[in-house]
Amino acid sequence: MKNQKVVIITGASNGMGKAAAQVFADHGWIVYGGARRVEKIPNGENIHAVSLDVIDDESIKSFADTVIKEQHHVDVLINNAGYGENGPAEDTPTDHIRKQFDTNFFGAVTLSQLILPTMRKQGSGRIVNISSIGGDIYSPLGAYYHATKAALQQWSDTLDIEVEQFGIRSVVVQPGGTKSSWGSVAVQNIYNNLKPDTAYKPLVDYMAKVLSDDAPGMGASVEDLANLFYRAATDEKPKRRYFNNFHDHLTVIMARSLPGLFRRQVLAGLKGK
Ligand SMILES: NC(=O)c1ccc[n+]([C@@H]2O[C@H](COP(=O)([O-])OP(=O)(O)OC[C@H]3O[C@@H](n4cnc5c(N)ncnc54)[C@H](OP(=O)(O)O)[C@@H]3O)[C@@H](O)[C@H]2O)c1
Repeated sequence: MKNQKVVIITGASNGMGKAAAQVFADHGWIVYGGARRVEKIPNGENIHAVSLDVIDDESIKSFADTVIKEQHHVDVLINNAGYGENGPAEDTPTDHIRKQFDTNFFGAVTLSQLILPTMRKQGSGRIVNISSIGGDIYSPLGAYYHATKAALQQWSDTLDIEVEQFGIRSVVVQPGGTKSSWGSVAVQNIYNNLKPDTAYKPLVDYMAKVLSDDAPGMGASVEDLANLFYRAATDEKPKRRYFNNFHDHLTVIMARSLPGLFRRQVLAGLKGK
């Protein structure tokens, strides 16, 4: 089919990115899904599964070159690949913190820089950055995850005002707790990041329960979020921020406008654990 729209989705082998690849393909888009576990990216007539490691500049370049060489245009880039390098701020090794920034922040930046010239030439395009409500709120053992998502949001807002003149927009989706592999990866990392003589064991055991994949806080489905990604990618008048529900939005508003109250609530939650 001619004039088919093209979307790039990073982290398309699992969770929200995998579900989003299916949603866009079902709407007739040509999807380029990237991930390290390329074999887990959904198969389909319109889905191209391409190997991508967002912490490897060569891999990102080869991924971007493949899409541009094969399609010559890119309508939407969804920077979704990400994970939680959770652990106590005091214990987490610096090389793990760098990997967190390389994945959640620099991966999105590097790929966007490679795709933007094509979008500028076409005079249109949208970059959808998958942050988290954790880009505005914070919880114990999430220091470096929250820092990457806050950075991504500030970067997206700045990029947005720079590229609007070229018909391009950069927007942010902020999911709340969603059933995927995110929680189990974050919990595994918490234990991996502990110093042998850690002072944080009770907090770790509590947060491991809060973050587990089937914890009550992980209420949304990856399909909910995939549909939200689609809305953020296609809204005629895009918004700076997209939330899956009113509760997620309210949580961010509360944390931003009443920071003292938000902090007391987090501490009260920990005391009642
Ligand atoms: N689930 C939640 O509660 C939640 C809440 C707020 C925000 N988020 C954010 O939503 C996004 C999607 O998360 P999810 O819940 O769908 O998690 P998920 O099920 O763990 O999926 C993460 C995806 O990211 C990919 N990825 C990780 N590191 C990568 C790398 N170096 N190169 C390429 N791909 C990489 C993984 O693919 P490979 O391992 O195959 O490479 C996988 O496809 C993330 O940015 C996450 O931070 C999640």
